[in-house]
Amino acid sequence: MEIDRKLTTASNLVAAKDQELGFGNVFSDHMLVRDWADGEWGRAMITPREPIPVEPSALGIHYGQSVFEGLKAYRGSQDGVIRLFRPDRNAARLKASSERLCIPTLPAEEFLECIQQLVATDSTWVPKEREHALYVRPMVFASEGHLSVRPAQCYKLVITTAPVAPYFSSRSRALRLKAESRFTRAASGGTGSAKTSGNYAPTLWPMASAAAEGFDQILWLDAQEHTFAEEAGQMNIFFRIGDEVVTPELSGTILPGVTRESALKLLEDWGVNAGTRRISMEELARASEDGSLLEIFGAGTAAVIASVASISYLGKEISAAPPSSGSLAERLREELLGIQYGERQDPHNWTHVVG
Ligand code: COI
Repeated sequence: MEIDRKLTTASNLVAAKDQELGFGNVFSDHMLVRDWADGEWGRAMITPREPIPVEPSALGIHYGQSVFEGLKAYRGSQDGVIRLFRPDRNAARLKASSERLCIPTLPAEEFLECIQQLVATDSTWVPKEREHALYVRPMVFASEGHLSVRPAQCYKLVITTAPVAPYFSSRSRALRLKAESRFTRAASGGTGSAKTSGNYAPTLWPMASAAAEGFDQILWLDAQEHTFAEEAGQMNIFFRIGDEVVTPELSGTILPGVTRESALKLLEDWGVNAGTRRISMEELARASEDGSLLEIFGAGTAAVIASVASISYLGKEISAAPPSSGSLAERLREELLGIQYGERQDPHNWTHVVG
């Protein structure tokens, strides 16, 4: 696939180096844009990053017909090689999300080529520091201006990249979650498994009130009974209970995370009894009381593997056992980072070198 290019003559890289890196506060020089109209995708173009003109009645803004993805490019700590982690899984999820929202799909090989070329263009933006990475954010939104509630006839793909630190900056402190027993993130038959913008805005208010109560994140529960754990705001959730590691099963209301899938595979490789099923808050409360709730952790591209100390549920504290040096969360984190930074074997060929 051919991609047109117009490169910047005024890079922001030097100025950006003075800024403390968070998650999404600094952006690289270029972006990729590609329009879909008259039933097909047009030519992709890499251009200097700049504001894009948006039709004021764009269906994507008005009615939320938009989907996005998130993946990272890592600079090898020993060989300096830039690697993407499982971008084929993001391509597949973008396709599934697009289908759910009546958005034209992008062939996986074109998605991969666009990302390869954009990351190669801004390769100097891939951070050298371990645990920092270049976050790649593809999004597709309905760009047609119209007021009918119907699938649009024009769409725009925009891919931007941003050098980032992990989403949760403090590794020294495990997170405190609030199990949300009033609001819900996704109901059966809804869009919970799609990565669509509309899944995020409704979480802002509950998240702000949880933050005001001192929590780091929300643990979303099932919409019907508010009894079963589903996922945490920006990551999937895992529990180590006795000799078992479990994460909620994908029931249509949970985002199928790439890190979640990779963690399950690694645990299986290690012979750990790991699987997916429904996990009730009662079960977690019991396990916390009898000491068998050994670990709680989140998994996500932005979050990596984030340890969770406790979950507040209906005013009661469900706590994991005190952190130990042999924790599975730490082992998973080190294995994933080791593969991503080219330090460890990659037996499943998860990484794609950026040429
Ligand atoms: C990611 O982990 O890539 C995400 O998309 C989470 C994001 C909403 C911060």
